[in-house]
Amino acid sequence: MFAWKGRKTIILTLDKYPKTGYFGFLKEFSISLDFNSILDTQSMTHQTLFPELSDQRIVVPFKSQLLKWIGNKQRFAHEITSYFPNDFRSYREPFLGSGAVLGTLRPAQGFASDVFSPLMEIWSTLHDAPSRLKRWYRDRWNRMDTGDKTAVYEEIKASYNHSPNGADLLFLCRSCYGGVVRFRKSDGFMSTPCGVHRPINPESFSHRVDLWKERTKNVSFFVANYRESMREAKKGDLIYCDPPYCDSQTILYGAQEFRLNQLFEAIELCRRRGVYVALSIDGQKDSGGKTCAIDIPSGLFVREVLVNCGPSMLKRFQMEGQTLERHRVSDRLLLTY
Ligand SMILES: C[S@@+](CC[C@H](N)C(=O)[O-])C[C@H]1O[C@@H](n2cnc3c(N)ncnc32)[C@H](O)[C@@H]1O
Repeated sequence: MFAWKGRKTIILTLDKYPKTGYFGFLKEFSISLDFNSILDTQSMTHQTLFPELSDQRIVVPFKSQLLKWIGNKQRFAHEITSYFPNDFRSYREPFLGSGAVLGTLRPAQGFASDVFSPLMEIWSTLHDAPSRLKRWYRDRWNRMDTGDKTAVYEEIKASYNHSPNGADLLFLCRSCYGGVVRFRKSDGFMSTPCGVHRPINPESFSHRVDLWKERTKNVSFFVANYRESMREAKKGDLIYCDPPYCDSQTILYGAQEFRLNQLFEAIELCRRRGVYVALSIDGQKDSGGKTCAIDIPSGLFVREVLVNCGPSMLKRFQMEGQTLERHRVSDRLLLTY
């Protein structure tokens, strides 16, 4: 299914329902192509990178996280994005989290949402007042740097729990243990202890704000349940869904109710309208872990790719830093096109 053409490997077609990742082929590309020159000549405002490729396109990795978020796709976003259609109208990401795929894609027009409003306050502030975002981070970082680290962290956490807000959440997600923002089921309070690491300094954070502001300049941010956001999608739009993990994320994102079956229904409605949908779901856990039994409605997706996701952050947190070698998780990427 592959043809060689000079220095480029061109993927002509993918098998229907391939069950393996194609990351190795991307590595071939990264050796032989000069990505900077590609970016200079191929304007990202036109959302076609390689129109001659029928199935997969090349996407430059972007690994500079703005936020730390459990389940984030920063390390693999370029791989996921490489399976997006060459041409689409607007891009929609209804389970935004830390927006790894959005930031990597840099859409010419986008709509990004999440049901978690303090998180969306961070994104709206990035869009409307990036210097305020920098100040939020710098003020808290300075307090921590000049005071007792854990005590200051606990003060910021108490402030967040008293009145959930983007400014505190921003600093907490960068300074909490393992970058795992989680909430107690009983009262919804954020419960993660202080991390052992030193959060990045305000200068580095400000630089990331500038990068992300530029990459998301064409995106509208809003608070919404995924169903509202998906309802707005029109023919030719692309939706990327990265829903909460099926087993444990209810305590990680404020105990929100999430049902995969309802998401499948929303995807089916989009598919019928001619909207392209890509869905990430957590794949197999090779050992020890619970395997999520997922019943995927037949006929909904036409392809599946295993994206190589490396060790699971969630596992690391639960195991308090034990080795992860035997706990690898692969994400499944299901495509309606
Ligand atoms: C796995 S995370 C997304 C991670 C993201 N791809 C990233 O790179 O950081 C899932 C997100 O879905 C959000 N979420 C959970 N239930 C939701 C719902 N019903 N509607 C919209 N967003 C929801 C959570 O707040 C969380 O940010």
